[in-house]
Amino acid sequence: MSEGLSVHNANVSYGRRQIVHDLSLPTLPHGSLTALIGPNGAGKSTLLRAVAGLEKMHGVVRLDDLDLSAMSVAERARRVTYMPQNLPPGLSLSVMESVIAALRVTPVDGLPLSNDACLREAFEALQRIGITHLADQWLNTLSGGQRQLVSLAQLIARRPQVMLLDEPTSALDLNYQLKVMECVRGLVREHNLIAVVVLHDINLAARFADHIAVLRQGRLYASGAANEVLNPLLFAEVYRVRARIERCSEQSLQVLVDGAF
Ligand SMILES: Nc1ncnc2c1ncn2[C@@H]1O[C@H](COP(=O)(O)OP(=O)(O)O)[C@@H](O)[C@H]1O
Ligand SMILES: [Mg+2]
Repeated sequence: MSEGLSVHNANVSYGRRQIVHDLSLPTLPHGSLTALIGPNGAGKSTLLRAVAGLEKMHGVVRLDDLDLSAMSVAERARRVTYMPQNLPPGLSLSVMESVIAALRVTPVDGLPLSNDACLREAFEALQRIGITHLADQWLNTLSGGQRQLVSLAQLIARRPQVMLLDEPTSALDLNYQLKVMECVRGLVREHNLIAVVVLHDINLAARFADHIAVLRQGRLYASGAANEVLNPLLFAEVYRVRARIERCSEQSLQVLVDGAF
């Protein structure tokens, strides 16, 4: 059996409307970062939520030899964390308190931490993302981008095996977009984690992801390395734009969009 996260024949519906259609992903190995891309309404959030166990799904999600759908919510949440696209409104907690609270809800490795250890882990998460200056600020006074960064800190502090991040960079400035992607890729490599990240910025996806999975109308349109997957036909069929894919002077892939159809 292959090691990693696998999704087989996922079907997800809201009421009678089917959103995800018999979707299977190639096994996503430990230590890899997958970008999930596709147009608005393609079913990216629905798929991630189903993998996290937050939507009812027909199909199988496995992590190594474990069937995630057979696990209790708490057991599953220890292994798989999900950062939603629309964050809940901030509570009256400081940033530091909110990260500590996240650690208490889902302790690292399932074991409760001492107060000192909680503080240390929470601070380290803020440090990794570069937001220690926000530690004492109230959650409900943060900007959208700052909320996104804190939400990511809450998630990484819990050291999940699988991180499902739904558009974690959508409200971030250029500096933090790169910092966040570097942080996620760093954690993935250091701790052999599995990350699936929904991104709209294809250049960011091409730069940071090991695999790109492309969703269209609830079905897997393509999956593979950026240079295998990204081509003008995909942009025409999936995004309805004319695009060129070129190598820049530093040899990284760049997508240049020339117009909409
Ligand atoms: N809670 C819900 N109830 C009913 N329909 C939903 C719900 N959430 C999303 N949808 C619908 O499912 C489709 C896919 O949505 P979503 O997974 O959010 O797409 P994406 O994240 O790719 O933009 C959309 O047509 C959306 O309107
Ligand atoms: Mg979405």
